[in-house]
Amino acid sequence: MNTSNIHWYDACAVDDIPKRGAVRLAHGSKTIAIFRSSDNKLFAIDDACPHKGGPLSDGIVHGDCVTCPLHNWRINLESGRAEGSDDGCVSTYPVRTSQQRVYVELTEVRDIGFA
Ligand code: FES
Repeated sequence: MNTSNIHWYDACAVDDIPKRGAVRLAHGSKTIAIFRSSDNKLFAIDDACPHKGGPLSDGIVHGDCVTCPLHNWRINLESGRAEGSDDGCVSTYPVRTSQQRVYVELTEVRDIGFA
């Protein structure tokens, strides 16, 4: 795997993300949602539900899942896959923390900022 185009983008402070909530990061034409679970796990996924594009960052976080605010699909934050009988998937991005900062791994950094 060619890692020369991988960037760890310094997205925000851990405390910028509310527990069981999310912050949005504009990335080119996409929006990435960075979630924080009640036990402080962090996840980054595309902020567009695989059903009809609902804003997952406005959903309810429970465990390692988020429920879409539009039609209640449950999306696994680790895998990006819809759970239960629903079928669909969103892109996920590796996340790490260092000194209370949150870094998201992106293969390209362009037009980026808080959404
Ligand atoms: S758009 Fe998310 S469940 Fe329909």
